Amino acid sequence: MGADILVTGATGFIGAVVVDYLKSRDDSVRVLLRPESDAGKASSMGVDVRKGSYDNPASLREAVKGVDMVIHLAGVTKSVNEKGYYDGNVFPVKRLLEAVKEVNPGLRRFLLVSSLAAAGPADNPDPGITETDIPEPVSIYGRSKLEAEKICLSYKDSLPVTVVRPPAVYGPGDKDVLQFLVMLKKGVVIAAGDVGKQRLSLVHVEDLVRGIVMAAESPVGAGETYFITSPKGYSWEELSGIASKELGVNTIRKISLPKPLIRIFGHIAGLISTITGRSGFLNPDKVNEMVRDYWVCSPQKAEKELGFAASIPLEEGMRTTIAWYREKGWL
Ligand SMILES: NC(=O)c1ccc[n+]([C@@H]2O[C@H](COP(=O)([O-])OP(=O)(O)OC[C@H]3O[C@@H](n4cnc5c(N)ncnc54)[C@H](OP(=O)(O)O)[C@@H]3O)[C@@H](O)[C@H]2O)c1
Repeated sequence: MGADILVTGATGFIGAVVVDYLKSRDDSVRVLLRPESDAGKASSMGVDVRKGSYDNPASLREAVKGVDMVIHLAGVTKSVNEKGYYDGNVFPVKRLLEAVKEVNPGLRRFLLVSSLAAAGPADNPDPGITETDIPEPVSIYGRSKLEAEKICLSYKDSLPVTVVRPPAVYGPGDKDVLQFLVMLKKGVVIAAGDVGKQRLSLVHVEDLVRGIVMAAESPVGAGETYFITSPKGYSWEELSGIASKELGVNTIRKISLPKPLIRIFGHIAGLISTITGRSGFLNPDKVNEMVRDYWVCSPQKAEKELGFAASIPLEEGMRTTIAWYREKGWL
């Protein structure tokens, strides 16, 4: 029998893959079901579902009691305001760690899934940003994730905590890279800024999940932060080349929107979100990220200390992801 593991954010894109992976290893999985969570999805997972809320410390104590590990994935990637990011990304980390300290001080590992956004963009794409670089987030989202990291690591003398920072994650279930593929299917690539210059790190969700679990289980990982990523920063040219082949698109029009123009679009989209209360794909905060040239991070520390190496080539990852979208009718 494997370990007892609490996974938060289990009904989300990455969370659902974490749960499947842990179940495949015979770990015993527990998930936290918030009042706002998708109860149908949680109950279909075939795991121990604990009702709870980050506002309710007693429910968190019940959720963390007796587990060997906590993998904290829950978070807010899009919000109409700053409060939404801090309430979703910072507050739950503190609350969960307090609950662990009170009722499960012998926990083997608390792993926080943060983001490359907490570190900010790199100055150059080779090797990209590393864990020793001073974080300089450029968005509210990134600042909230960095704040969560700081809280998490402030417990490192009393609890074995680890932080994992993924770059953009793609794979079946993701709805962000999907937006790029939907445009590409129409024969268009739109980038904010210099489409020829920009580079970005990507990781397939299955590689990421393996890396998360390696970091959680590694004895050297306690108190540490790791980027879990594929080894290179891709250009839009490479990305669209690989994806368009799979989509059967022959001609692509590349549009580099000037940065001031994309900022105007971001403001309009942000206003619409504020009015409707629905956070969309574009807002001023996302634009602050989109206009940067190098969202690239280095996997070297994870390779050296955890023995992690991304194993899914982009061509294969895109092929299976596009096939999944087609099967679901999303593309
Ligand atoms: N996708 C990416 O490209 C990417 C890249 C870097 C980092 N990350 C990080 O990875 C984690 C998972 O991301 P994801 O892509 O799987 O996102 P997702 O699909 O939006 O899932 C996030 C989950 O967090 C929980 N959640 C939502 N709002 C919340 C709130 N206000 N308070 C507490 N929990 C809330 C929900 O799960 P429950 O209802 O089950 O609680 C939700 O399904 C996040 O922490 C994100 O910052 C993602």
